[in-house]
Amino acid sequence: MNFLNKLNEKEKRIIDIVLNSNNEFKNKIYLVGGVVRDLLMGKKIKDIDFLIEGSAIDFAKNSNLKIKSIHEPFNTVKVEILGEEIDIASTRIETYDYMGSLPNVIETGVKIEDDLKRRDFTINSIGYNLHSNKIIDPYFGQEDIKKGVLKILHEKSFLDDPTRILRGLDFKYRFNFEFDENTTSLIKNCLKTFNNEHLSIDRIYLTLNKIFSYSYSNKILADILNYEIYKIWQNKTDLKTSDIVELDQAKEIFNVFEQNKLYILALESIFYIKAPFKNDFEIYEFFKNFNNVQLALYYFKTKDESALKYLKIKNIKPEINGHDLKKLGFSQGRFIGIILKDILKEKILNPNAFISKQDEIDFVLKNYSPD
Ligand code: CTP
Repeated sequence: MNFLNKLNEKEKRIIDIVLNSNNEFKNKIYLVGGVVRDLLMGKKIKDIDFLIEGSAIDFAKNSNLKIKSIHEPFNTVKVEILGEEIDIASTRIETYDYMGSLPNVIETGVKIEDDLKRRDFTINSIGYNLHSNKIIDPYFGQEDIKKGVLKILHEKSFLDDPTRILRGLDFKYRFNFEFDENTTSLIKNCLKTFNNEHLSIDRIYLTLNKIFSYSYSNKILADILNYEIYKIWQNKTDLKTSDIVELDQAKEIFNVFEQNKLYILALESIFYIKAPFKNDFEIYEFFKNFNNVQLALYYFKTKDESALKYLKIKNIKPEINGHDLKKLGFSQGRFIGIILKDILKEKILNPNAFISKQDEIDFVLKNYSPD
């Protein structure tokens, strides 16, 4: 298995440096989690997570690596390599005192297989020994990657850490994967029985903040609303009077009739973050699947005027349709879709681009050839 070839030169050098920094641990250094998953899928990696089967602190202290910080309770270290901050963790076993609380580390330096047990999905529970080049895959994550399946490791996983539901939605849309049947029913069970008294709201916040920065975040948001996943953090934040005033303003602007739903969702704090838009077409694409409640909430949370801009452009449509394009000799549905989207883009970016339907026809004939 030489999937490390897919890394870029700098990433390879970082791995080489860690591997050769402490001979005593040579056979105890693993890659784990997202990096292994992404390499197996042939994707570019985000960051390299190292895992030591033993104590990461001992490993780093007796190496020639530059230590930036040490976190004793989790036995993790941050080191600096080639100008990058790199996390090195120790294998560990965790337990949860309450549903959704932060975990307690009860032992570090355990066998890799025992560490893999505490993780979320099978596709994220694969270790790679950098010395022997062996894959450790006790939950058959590689098979699930091939099948495109999201499978949780054990029955209590979502109750221990419901952010895993949000993480699952992220992977679902990022990789176009599906939850397996048992995992789907465990999500439903969690939504029914979860008690959020001891929930770590920061963890929820961090996870939402991460996933709302992705281009497909509106799909995740739709699932959060449709499947009422927000109930996990229901009533964990208070609405202030000033919030109510702002919500009512947003309600008016976006023509929201479901006031209760709006209040409930705001109470449950759907954490939107301001999305970076380069132009009006990006605004259109981002909001096109938002309903009015979502728009109002987005605006309430971010004060981003792009939501107001969207109200102005949302009804722009090409004059011509698929039927017209077929008459012009275009037969492939996919191609017709692309042309219509291009025309829409032109119209949104340049309101004076087309005055009449004939202008749009001329644009098509000039820029595309019938098949
Ligand atoms: N993990 C987990 N439960 C969580 C968060 C993380 O079990 N709630 C484990 C998973 O094994 C995961 C690893 O910790 O692969 C690293 O987590 P993180 O860096 O947050 O995500 P990645 O899976 O690496 O995915 P990405 O960074 O690509 O989003």
